[in-house]
Amino acid sequence: LASRDRVLELDLTAAPARARIGGQEANVQAFNGSLPGPTLRVRAGDTIRVTMRNGLQAPTNLHVHGLHVSPQGNSDNPFVSIDPGGSFDYEFTLPADHPPGTYWYHPHRHGHVAGQVAAGLYGAIVVEDPDPVPVTRERVLVVSDLSLDADGNLAEVSQMQQMMGREGQIVLVNGQLRPRLRAAPGERERWRIINACPSRYLRLALDGQQLRLLSRDLGRLPVPEDVTEVVLAPGNRVELLVETRDGSSTLTAAPVDRGSMDAMMGGAMGGDNASGGGPVDLLTLAVSGSAGTDPGPVPEGRPLRDLRNEPVTAARTLNFAMGMNANTGMNENMGSGAGMGSMMAFTINGRKFDPERVDETAAAGTVEEWTLTNSSPMDHPIHLHVWPMQIVQDGDRDVTRPTWQDVVNVPARSQVKVRVAFDDFPGRTVFHCHILDHEDQGMMATVQAR
Ligand code: C2O
Ligand code: CU
Ligand code: CU
Repeated sequence: LASRDRVLELDLTAAPARARIGGQEANVQAFNGSLPGPTLRVRAGDTIRVTMRNGLQAPTNLHVHGLHVSPQGNSDNPFVSIDPGGSFDYEFTLPADHPPGTYWYHPHRHGHVAGQVAAGLYGAIVVEDPDPVPVTRERVLVVSDLSLDADGNLAEVSQMQQMMGREGQIVLVNGQLRPRLRAAPGERERWRIINACPSRYLRLALDGQQLRLLSRDLGRLPVPEDVTEVVLAPGNRVELLVETRDGSSTLTAAPVDRGSMDAMMGGAMGGDNASGGGPVDLLTLAVSGSAGTDPGPVPEGRPLRDLRNEPVTAARTLNFAMGMNANTGMNENMGSGAGMGSMMAFTINGRKFDPERVDETAAAGTVEEWTLTNSSPMDHPIHLHVWPMQIVQDGDRDVTRPTWQDVVNVPARSQVKVRVAFDDFPGRTVFHCHILDHEDQGMMATVQAR
């Protein structure tokens, strides 16, 4: 086989599992018994065959987040449902020009996504870089969060938490509580960081080390950017180059203001913000010993496609909203939070998700401009399957450098304009809020390319 015709085979079983989290035995759910599941390392042109088995008590399925693969048939089809005890044979073929980067996989069965991802069902996908960056080592860091009760079982999630988007009390890196990493000074590491939290935003900083941003979600920046912090909405990934210096550093996740329900509820929520609390320590990096060898300069990456230079064939406005459901209102249940979830409707252009419906139709081979508007008092990170989005306007600010992402945060009461090239792949797939509780409650719609 030519290298571009490789076929990789993998068995994935989603099932209950035991994990040791910060000294406590926990009952979680995992792919192949490990948190996270196995990392898939692939190259553009590869075909990946996955036999996915469902060892859970609920229906599930598999989604390869961010990969540019067909949305149809046995490929990345979000409408597949695997019953408990059942299995499904997936086959994904990456085009020969698939962008390198850090991607991930997780279940995508509507109504069950937040719970299954929070329980531990997630794993990394690395699409290897055809122009390797010289580094001393590479690390894949999957960040997740969960809440456990005193018996080590997954804590119940209130309807209020589902409405805000659940945030777990424990934040893990590769299934571990505050792991300790080691390096020598003068080294360069490539960190591939995935925000696999169902709802938590991460404002990441690593004190005392020099950071350069190499990639956001997909592809690679032509020249890495110096950064002191990066913000990841749920589903986002970054690749960072860490140029190590002597000392002990902590990777922290500071809270991000992602809005609150307070304005909407007339102050009844007591001003609660979704992301409360202080910064969380994710891991420590201890840098000591004799200096490593200089890995040499970072070669320039390939120039990025810029859809602002291409004709736009269609413009759409998509409104993401949270509203009161009909026939419900503020009532005595407010205090306990009971009944809140069913009071709220999470909609796109006024409609909740219906897997049978076609909401938007795009012509293959065209470029569209989508205005993502958020009329609600909370941020919504919007994710489109299969086709990445180029951000061209963020609020009132024109985004001049080509900026490609597959999850784009739309701040509360704001709008973001993106362009999408529906180059290839006919078929129907979804776009949705990646606060997975919002997606499960209906903030998802379908798009058909033909
Ligand atoms: Cu990461 Cu449609 O999901
Ligand atoms: Cu996805
Ligand atoms: Cu949302």
